[in-house]
Amino acid sequence: PPAVPSLCGIPLKYISLITLAVQNSALTIIMHYSRVSTPSSRAYSAATAVLMNEILKGLISLVIAFVRIDTGYPHDMVQAPSSILTRLRKLSRDVFSQDCWKLSIPAILYVIQNNLQYVAASNLEAATFQVTYQMKILTTAAFSVLLLRKKLSPAQWLSLLFLAIGVGVVQIQDLAPTAATVSVGPKSMDQMKGFIAVVAACFTSGLAGVYFEMVLKNSQTDLWVRNVQLSLFSLLPAFAPVVFTQRHHVTRGTTSLFSILFHNFGAWAWTTVSVQVLGGLVTAMVIKYSDNILKGFATSLSIVISFLASVALFDFKMTFTFILGSAIVLVATWLYNQQPKHAGYLKEPIGWN
Ligand code: C5P
Repeated sequence: PPAVPSLCGIPLKYISLITLAVQNSALTIIMHYSRVSTPSSRAYSAATAVLMNEILKGLISLVIAFVRIDTGYPHDMVQAPSSILTRLRKLSRDVFSQDCWKLSIPAILYVIQNNLQYVAASNLEAATFQVTYQMKILTTAAFSVLLLRKKLSPAQWLSLLFLAIGVGVVQIQDLAPTAATVSVGPKSMDQMKGFIAVVAACFTSGLAGVYFEMVLKNSQTDLWVRNVQLSLFSLLPAFAPVVFTQRHHVTRGTTSLFSILFHNFGAWAWTTVSVQVLGGLVTAMVIKYSDNILKGFATSLSIVISFLASVALFDFKMTFTFILGSAIVLVATWLYNQQPKHAGYLKEPIGWN
């Protein structure tokens, strides 16, 4: 059997899933805090943050793709190291391949989603946002079934239902403010706007994720090359909102492009972007080594992690409903991962590698 990709003996599948769960809890809290802790007049530009996210992720993916070129993708063949020029040529051939346009679809969807996420995080409590955002598990399952013709066993459908119930139960006890519901500062929130943004983001998340999975798993092209293509196609759509939202600075004609982009862009903004870059890279790995539906379970575990962090750091009291809800989420995750007993249910469509 082919070797399972691993790091220090631990399969990458599990490393990436756990990292994603931790990253997700951190991002929810940091993004919310970074948006609401200052008044609107001193807020950093979310559009710049999305653009920076794409640029940094693209550059990191480019370096990884460059380093990996001689380790022999798509097949692990041992070969003599090639010169830098040969590598660069090979890399640009891969990046600007005939089918690179396919990445434009998830690229645009992700840019929309990443902008919507800031609208949601600025207008909803962190915990409300985190829980409502779990609806993307259902949109992802729906798109996986529709586009990838993924067959889910009855047990897996049941686990999706359990997951939805578990997430709801965790939420019931969340009436008192906790660390996961950090609501600080002077900025007012518009719940309806936040809710619409989060629902729209669930749809783009499901569609973009499944589309990326489809492109990735239907070809031999390296994951990191795909990521570079994704970032390249994101640049233009990510730049457009920057111009749109910052045009009043432009018309005043006072400052340079640099100072327009990075107006109020302080430590919290850079922290948010860094955590998001990590998330993008890990998400890509999760989609490669597991699948989008399993990714949903990892992020739902992040709710449990957020609450545990609240207990440890902020003396948050654990309640019966929290333990019950978390237990249901964990059981659902376990249930989804059970291999179907008979051949009628395929984990992946025929023809995939
Ligand atoms: O919430 P969801 O899992 O759909 O979010 C996916 C996030 O991961 C988006 O911010 C997207 O930009 C990022 N991503 C990425 N590279 C990929 C796939 C997703 O940066 N290959």
